[in-house]
Amino acid sequence: MTQPVAPNITTDPAKEAAGIRAADFVTDGMTVGLGTGSTAEYAIRRLAERVREEGLRINGVPTSLKTELLARESGIPLIDINGVGHVDLTIDGADEIDTAFNMIKGGGGALLREKVVARASTLEIIVIDPAKLVNRLGERWAVPVEVVPFGWARTARALHVLGCEAKLRGPSEDRPYQTDNGNYLLDCRFPRIDNPAELEQKINAVPGVVESGLFIGLAHRLIIGHPDGRCEVRERP
Ligand code: A5P
Repeated sequence: MTQPVAPNITTDPAKEAAGIRAADFVTDGMTVGLGTGSTAEYAIRRLAERVREEGLRINGVPTSLKTELLARESGIPLIDINGVGHVDLTIDGADEIDTAFNMIKGGGGALLREKVVARASTLEIIVIDPAKLVNRLGERWAVPVEVVPFGWARTARALHVLGCEAKLRGPSEDRPYQTDNGNYLLDCRFPRIDNPAELEQKINAVPGVVESGLFIGLAHRLIIGHPDGRCEVRERP
């Protein structure tokens, strides 16, 4: 029998409220995309509770190895994404989201699997605290870009031509951060992002780029949790 995973020692009431509310939208029989990050984690823990207590039958599709481990330890049955036609609903976090629901994701390094799962999802629910809301993408966060290790410095120079400063993620260039897919991340800081959709295409056209953390047109519903436990649910305009 699987035991519930110990809860986070530090609790963030805003993230917790958003995550728990999102889990309400999951119904019996669904294939559910399980996002990555501290806010999505609250939703996953709540789903695990519903599986145990209500006998909710779901199959989870994890977006990272960390989430996969959490789901397994929590007793959520998992399914290979290759074996499903579509994902009914995904609950994931974001680093920034604008008023049109365009996002920057990948702060936790999971952007590639998150995007594959988001693209396969009929309904993408994004769970955030209010600090993630921005008027224009790039206000606070650099755009993470997953690149193959081969020639990464050349790829960084090609991205620089698009107008950003591209910094290899990790403690040092000798010890770069590696994604779940064995790739590197370049955190690309653009002084201003006026057209995120166009920028996403330009980034993805650079040889060596696997995927960018710009998520355009993928979020359908937004749940904003507040520190007092209130939640706002917004649909994409
Ligand atoms: C993971 O790579 C990211 O896309 C996360 O979804 C994002 O960083 C949100 O994280 P928090 O919910 O921890 O803020």
